[in-house]
Amino acid sequence: MAKSMLFLHIFFAMIWIGGMVYSLLFLQPALKSLERDDIRKDLAGKILRRFFLGVWLSIAVLFLTGMWMWHEVRPDFSQNTLFHIKLFLFTLMVVNFVYIYFYLLRKQLFSHIPNFVWINLFLGTLITAIITYIR
Ligand code: HEM
Repeated sequence: MAKSMLFLHIFFAMIWIGGMVYSLLFLQPALKSLERDDIRKDLAGKILRRFFLGVWLSIAVLFLTGMWMWHEVRPDFSQNTLFHIKLFLFTLMVVNFVYIYFYLLRKQLFSHIPNFVWINLFLGTLITAIITYIR
């Protein structure tokens, strides 16, 4: 059970963080090369809406598997400051994503979204470094 939870946890962390790397380093530059603004906006909207559904699923799975592993496998993390910093950074990532999803995406402010995704990529990388270090 613990191994399956850890697998799900790492798999959905890869979906969220890997998806951000893909969208910032590969998709964004390609979208920028499109001349027609209407085609660029339409494509960006279609791709981001799909990816963001995956992010909502990742947030749910990371939280549920994380809480289970915390309480069933690593109760010692309750005394670990770095682990609490990990949870704080995760909360920041979720708040940032809520802003991206419910404001920037709704208002179709696609050119603003990459800046906020860079913030979440930085936070997600920091979280991965912290947990690898304390595990
Ligand atoms: C973006 C968010 C997150 C990322 C990228 C992430 C990433 C990871 C990774 C890569 C590991 C495995 C470390 C290793 O095997 O060396 C891990 C383990 C763990 N994560 Fe997360 N995590 C995230 C969110 C959370 C949340 C929200 C919680 C708690 C509510 C959590 C609790 C844990 C616990 C308890 C472990 C250790 C499991 C064990 O030692 O078997 N994580 N996390």
